[in-house]
Amino acid sequence: HVTVTVEPSLQVAPYACQRRTPLDHPNPALVMALETLAEAALFAGEEARGLAFTRAASVLRCLPRALQGTHELSGLPCIGGHSHRVLQEVLEDGVCAEVEAVKQSERYQTMKLFTQIFGVGVRTADCWYREGLRSLGDLQSHGTRLTRQQQAGVECFEDLAVPVGRAEAEGLACLVLDAAARLLPSASVTLAGGFRRGKPHGHDVDLLLSHPEEGREVGLLGPLVAWLEEQGLLLYQHSQHSSYTTTAEPSSSCGPLDRFERCFTILRLVLPATGTGVRAWRAVRLDLVVVPHSQLPFALLGWTGSRHFERELRRFARHEREMVLNSHGLYNMRQGTFLPASSEEEIFQHLGLDYIPPTLRNA
Ligand code: GTP
Ligand code: MN
Ligand code: MN
Repeated sequence: HVTVTVEPSLQVAPYACQRRTPLDHPNPALVMALETLAEAALFAGEEARGLAFTRAASVLRCLPRALQGTHELSGLPCIGGHSHRVLQEVLEDGVCAEVEAVKQSERYQTMKLFTQIFGVGVRTADCWYREGLRSLGDLQSHGTRLTRQQQAGVECFEDLAVPVGRAEAEGLACLVLDAAARLLPSASVTLAGGFRRGKPHGHDVDLLLSHPEEGREVGLLGPLVAWLEEQGLLLYQHSQHSSYTTTAEPSSSCGPLDRFERCFTILRLVLPATGTGVRAWRAVRLDLVVVPHSQLPFALLGWTGSRHFERELRRFARHEREMVLNSHGLYNMRQGTFLPASSEEEIFQHLGLDYIPPTLRNA
């Protein structure tokens, strides 16, 4: 007799914040193809097109099993015609000609290189490309004017291209916690960003500083940064004052930028002892964000990511709930009130969403 196994049909909710998306998933080639096109669209300044590819890629990221064929795409949300053709080609041929052409193109490779520099966004990279610049060497030989941040980014480029490991990130979190607790007893430090989602590597380390007593966190960052400087650990830093006011109209339309006091740094990460002649440190990016205790669940949710998961949470809040979510709070527009929360779980409850733990937010 014959055994027929029928794969259960794939069910995917329309918003990424309604889905459980683990780090590892069974469709890496398909996701990579779509994410390459998303990146290329952003490099071309076509944000809507980029977002469409990102949404399609994110749907494939959450599938519990490998996609069997394009017949399975019809029930899935967010897969447009272009994404459909790309997926079909990868499923049938293993690669997609358009994606391969993008990856080989001088434009894509140069934009990828330039936007990887700390302090360089798509617009700057695009200007440089149109001026004919193609390499880091070109920036120097053409005497391209760089901000202090970009200068540091170029100087540390090779180090910063090395991924930060989890143990290194946790080591930095401990170092910062020790220093913070000496300056302010009971200060807390939370490792957010990709590491909180379970990623083994990251391009930087994102730390949230707080204190269980509201207001005590004020004035912590300056002395903390000064201490890092005294230790000779700071290679670069720029700080931003808090610009948060409770009277301001809450907003999620100004992008992911929040108004916390913060410091963007490049730190000298001291490496375990090695043989003679080997440099004993490496430059790494560290972001420090100071958060009042009452806003900590919102900041934690906002700084854990992924970037797409955050964008979808805000879109869901606005369009499905008439609420504004950002890293400071949740505002109910119909009632004209802020909804306080003492945990991430409570924020999901306010939004009427099932709780998604950090390791399943890799949308
Ligand atoms: P890797 O560092 O590459 O491992 O990825 P990551 O997910 O940690 O990305 P990144 O460090 O760029 O950002 C971490 C999270 O913080 C992301 O979800 C971003 O949306 C969020 N984030 C980054 N910058 C800001 C910011 O200025 N304000 C707010 N509110 N969120 C930010
Ligand atoms: Mn990060
Ligand atoms: Mn960061």
